[in-house]
Amino acid sequence: MKKLTLPHGSAMNTKAFTYGVATAAFQIEGAAEFRLTNIWDTFCAQPDNIADGSDGLVACDHYHQWQQDLDLISELGVDAYRFSISWTRVINEDGSLNQLGVDFYIRILDCLNERGIQAFVTLYHWDLPQYLEDQGGWLNRETAYHFAHYADLISQAFAGRVTSYATLNEPFCSAYLGYEIGIHAPGIKGKQYGKKAAHHLLLAHGLAMLALQKNSPNSQNGIVLNFTPAYPATNIPEDIHAAHFADEYFNHWYIQPIMEGQYPDIINQLANDHLPVIQPGDMAIINQPLDFIGINYYTRAVYQADKQHVFKELPAQPPLTDMGWQIYPEAFSHLLISLHNRYPLPPIYITENGAAMPDKLINGEINDSDRIDYYQSHLNAVESAITHGVNIKGYFAWSLMDNFEWAEGYLKRFGIVYVDYTTQTRTIKASGHAYQELIKQRV
Ligand code: NOJ
Repeated sequence: MKKLTLPHGSAMNTKAFTYGVATAAFQIEGAAEFRLTNIWDTFCAQPDNIADGSDGLVACDHYHQWQQDLDLISELGVDAYRFSISWTRVINEDGSLNQLGVDFYIRILDCLNERGIQAFVTLYHWDLPQYLEDQGGWLNRETAYHFAHYADLISQAFAGRVTSYATLNEPFCSAYLGYEIGIHAPGIKGKQYGKKAAHHLLLAHGLAMLALQKNSPNSQNGIVLNFTPAYPATNIPEDIHAAHFADEYFNHWYIQPIMEGQYPDIINQLANDHLPVIQPGDMAIINQPLDFIGINYYTRAVYQADKQHVFKELPAQPPLTDMGWQIYPEAFSHLLISLHNRYPLPPIYITENGAAMPDKLINGEINDSDRIDYYQSHLNAVESAITHGVNIKGYFAWSLMDNFEWAEGYLKRFGIVYVDYTTQTRTIKASGHAYQELIKQRV
């Protein structure tokens, strides 16, 4: 069986480097009857939004299987588990805590602590309460204050049990996919909405950071951002300009205000009604110091100049994962090095990296050597960035197990553990065993 290896003497071969696995509440928990409705419940219930017509009502049934899932996490031997809190499980519509939901997470946190596994908690992984969407969702500035209130209550309730808090996961996806092109919940479309939603998400992050600094000063508090590095189709200046614009619009739009308190200069080229509504003091709130930054990387994108829309994304070229995403590890090391050169970054955790592959369960085994190759080349990319001086503290595989892949439903499998959704049986894939061995042999 294929192995995962890193060069002898690599910082990633020591116990000082954190290895983890990641999940998110809506994608694994199920047990929707014990929480309020969120925007993904609503989105799934509308026809044609999800490729297989599925939803998150049961998912991996993690709400009931959590002990077995924590056993799996222990068996993999990881140092850390990254998971998210379902806002609608822990907060009632009047803003008070729902103790049933809080207790569910406290049991998980206590169990992780007993096993010596660090808890990396994400407060918002896309599951906005529907009652807030009904008041405008992320287009309503008030949502940022509701989020800060939730962050305040939950970080008090978790009292010292958490190693790391991330306020938001991938605000780009919430804003752009959810409120600009509408392929994610709540399914709103229009260029006049995307950047407005993005601004309120970033404001929510800044306000929540203030609550976390107050209630949980000993945890590492930060945010998780995704990057899809933008490459020009050719070296002609028009394509280079197109790729630069796309990079600022999709990637730097989120990190630059957090690190520097201002949006990228391309803000001056946006149409007036596409602009965010910024109130005095907002940018300073967004610009909170971070204890860490989480970076999610999967693929790159290639852009060409386009007269009407400034840039046009070209179809991905092979090799591709099952998502149709190009496998391009060079962009990962290049991204990490270029972010390090552009911003005074806090310590970095790779909070997500991984691949959907067309897994087959044969004789009780999943021999996903294609996924092992993906992990190997991307771990090498992280290693290369570290040798170039980038301060990277840890790496989380996405995902612990196959789960609800948003608009793709259950058709795409990202797990290093296979899930049979009819029996809820979990089987560690060859990639899971390879990850387990990589972690075990560290010095
Ligand atoms: C990013 C998201 O955080 C996660 O929820 C998703 O499943 C993976 N990317 C794969 O698309």
